[in-house]
Amino acid sequence: MIVVTGATGNIGRPLTRALAEAGEQVTAVSRHPAAVPEGVRHVVADLAEPAGLGPALAGAKSLFLLLSGDLHATGANPADIVGEAVDRGVRRVVLLSTLGVVTRPFGTTRVAMRALEDTVRESGLEWAVLRPGGFASNALWWAESVRTRRVVAAPFGDTGVPVVDPADIAAVAAACLLEDRHTGGAYELTGPEVITPRGQTEALAAALGSPVDFHELTLEEARDGMSRAMPAELADDTLDILGSPSPAEQRVSPDIERVLGRAPRTFADWAARNVDAFR
Ligand SMILES: NC(=O)c1ccc[n+]([C@@H]2O[C@H](COP(=O)([O-])OP(=O)(O)OC[C@H]3O[C@@H](n4cnc5c(N)ncnc54)[C@H](OP(=O)(O)O)[C@@H]3O)[C@@H](O)[C@H]2O)c1
Repeated sequence: MIVVTGATGNIGRPLTRALAEAGEQVTAVSRHPAAVPEGVRHVVADLAEPAGLGPALAGAKSLFLLLSGDLHATGANPADIVGEAVDRGVRRVVLLSTLGVVTRPFGTTRVAMRALEDTVRESGLEWAVLRPGGFASNALWWAESVRTRRVVAAPFGDTGVPVVDPADIAAVAAACLLEDRHTGGAYELTGPEVITPRGQTEALAAALGSPVDFHELTLEEARDGMSRAMPAELADDTLDILGSPSPAEQRVSPDIERVLGRAPRTFADWAARNVDAFR
C-alpha cells in the first residue's frame, strides 16, 4: 500500500489516480474529507500531528510526503513524520521539496526543507527527492479576475521562469514510488521553456478563445495581495524569484525527460486542460 499526503491538491490528485490505475492500493491523506478515485482509501489526518498518522501508515510500503507551504510556520516538526513512517515499517519515501533548496538555500522555509531532505536521506529508508520550480497551477491565482474581468494582474510581466506542470511532478513521483532505479535520486523539475506572465496570459487567452488583458502590478501592490495569502517572508521570497530569477531558476532541467522519457508539458497544455477554472 502507498500513502499519498497532499492527496487532494494539484500534485496529489493526479498522483493518487496514477497509482490506483497502476493497480496499487492507495491511502490518500488530507485534513478534510474528499472524493477520491474508486478503490482508494481516504484518511483524514493533519501532518502537524505526526502521531495521528498511524492509522494511515499502518501496513504501508511507501510514502509520498508533501507538506503544505505553511506547515513549517505551525511549529510542527516534519522530521517526526519520517520517524513515524520508519516506526510503522514503511520502506520507501518520496519527498516533495523545492528547487529553492538549491537556488536560494538561506530562507527559513528552505533551511527547514533542506533539513528535512537530510532527515529523509539519513532515515535508512529508500528515498527520492523532488525539487520543482514554480508551478503552472500558480496561475489559478488569476482565475477569478480572468473569469470576471478577462484580466491577469501580476508583477514582472516580462520576466519568466520555466513553470512546471503539477501533473508532470505527479508522474515523476509515481515513477519514484514504483521503480527501484530512482532510489537515491534528487530531481530538479521544471517545464520545457521559460514563460513570462505576459506569455501565460496569451496562453490562457488562446485556451479560452477570447482576449485576456495583462495588467502589470507594482511590487508593492503584488506584495500586498500575496501577503494576505501567505506569510510575508514567503511572499517576499516568491516576489524576489519572480522579479529577479537567477540563471539556475531560469534553467530548463532535463530531469523530467530523463525520468519519463518524454518532454515536460508546456504551460499552454496546462491551460488547455484547466481552462474551465478560467471560464
Ligand atoms: N506553488 C509553487 O510554485 C511551488 C514550488 C515549489 C514547491 N512547492 C511546494 O508544493 C507543495 C504544494 O503542492 P500542491 O500545489 O499540490 O498543493 P495544494 O494544491 O495546495 O494542496 C495541498 C494538499 O495538502 C493537504 N494539506 C494541507 N495542509 C495539510 C496538513 N497540515 N495536513 C494534511 N494535509 C494537508 C491539502 O488538503 P487539506 O487542505 O484538506 O488538508 C491538499 O490535499 C508545497 O509543499 C509547496 O511548498 C510549490
